[in-house]
Amino acid sequence: MAKKGNKTSRPREASGIRKGRFKGGMDPEFASFNASISFDKRLYKEDIQGTIAHVTMLAAQGIIDPDEGRIIQDGLTQVLGDIEKGRLEFRDDLEDIHINIEEALRAKIGDIAGKAHTARSRNDQVALDLRMYIRNQSRLIMRELMAVAEGLIAKSENSLDLIMPGYTHLQRAQPVRLSHHLMAYFQMFRRDWERFRDATVRMDEMPLGSAALAGTTFPIDRDMVAELLDFSRVTSNSMDSVADRDFAAEFLFNSCMVMMHLSRLAEELILWSSSEFGFCSLPDAFCSGSSIMPQKKNPDACELIRAKTGRVYGDLIALLTVLKALPLAYNKDLQEDKEPVFDATDTVHGSLTIMSGLIAGLEFDGDRMLNAASDPQIAATDLADRLVQEGIPFREAHARVGAMIRSQTESTKIRFGSVPSPEEMVEARRHRGGTGRAGVIGQIREAKAFLKKNAEKRTPETSHSG
Ligand code: ARG
Repeated sequence: MAKKGNKTSRPREASGIRKGRFKGGMDPEFASFNASISFDKRLYKEDIQGTIAHVTMLAAQGIIDPDEGRIIQDGLTQVLGDIEKGRLEFRDDLEDIHINIEEALRAKIGDIAGKAHTARSRNDQVALDLRMYIRNQSRLIMRELMAVAEGLIAKSENSLDLIMPGYTHLQRAQPVRLSHHLMAYFQMFRRDWERFRDATVRMDEMPLGSAALAGTTFPIDRDMVAELLDFSRVTSNSMDSVADRDFAAEFLFNSCMVMMHLSRLAEELILWSSSEFGFCSLPDAFCSGSSIMPQKKNPDACELIRAKTGRVYGDLIALLTVLKALPLAYNKDLQEDKEPVFDATDTVHGSLTIMSGLIAGLEFDGDRMLNAASDPQIAATDLADRLVQEGIPFREAHARVGAMIRSQTESTKIRFGSVPSPEEMVEARRHRGGTGRAGVIGQIREAKAFLKKNAEKRTPETSHSG
């Protein structure tokens, strides 16, 4: 392994892909600056699957000898096994995952290994690997989104008759069912799920065959490779294929939306579990204590989700900024696409998993919530609505109730005469999408139908093991 900062270790002979064009080895500082293996080793499985499919096609097309094709494939399967057993030591001086795997293959089968790269470049290779990686991760995230959605539905069903204040401007506004509030989050995660699904459909194009940028002189069969790797179609333009990272940016944007939704929910849980609200308690297993204040049970999980949202936004901006001034086609800048994608992937997986656990362990205090929802001021809209039923225009009714509240606020105690109960108020909103019992039951029914319909479509994490 090339040692960082060891200026004396520059190899005098050029080797690997430098053999031929270069007079000597790389400056060791530059070698480590240039290398991506420390992070792109994550793509090992996709890289090997892609190469196996490519070699299958090369042999089928008579571009390489079928026996050599089989030797390469067996060798790659062994390399995969070695990596998975932790037996392959990745080398910084071999730059990236592609060269590391090629060299590991050469160590097993000799120079035939070099034939796998016929009609291919690392440019289309890495474009393929990242697409496959993002496809797999999107499917995992979709599953995790479904788990969060299921948790929200279960809590909503169990708390159908708990009533709480609904808020605008974080001021008590109108009473709502807790289930109605929770199902609002279901809608967000449902849209997130759909967004990932839409993106995976859009990115379902196989870029291999584009080679460096212009395509290849060999008689390749791109459709065959697409089919072997479970892509629906091949990309249409070789230059776009090696330069395009739209799918990665879209993945990051979708990740930002998930994090933003999780962060809003986390913020509510922080508020609700505070002594000021006292609406719920978070499961002990997801809280931590204070080193000095024995009474503290801190909502760290929620706070971390809220904060990590920022780093995922940063990941999106980092990639968009890398892309914004790149001329066609491949530029080494594109190597900087991976760390944001990996960081966002880890953060979204972690946050969704933690949120599932939090939701499952939430305990609500129905009395505290009802008490807060029994604040007479919260009935103001309903009182105005009553006046409207007596024929008074709404704007006038609004002013009259407002004036009554102002005079009573001045006399500190609010008395409204016959104020509707929180139960009456939520039940008065019995249309579709409203907080009435039937409306919420309808939402839950639709949500379950959504889960059922899409559960069938949940695809395995990796569609081809090679
Ligand atoms: N490690 C490179 C990347 O991630 C692979 C492609 C390198 N291609 C090249 N022409 N240098 O983008």
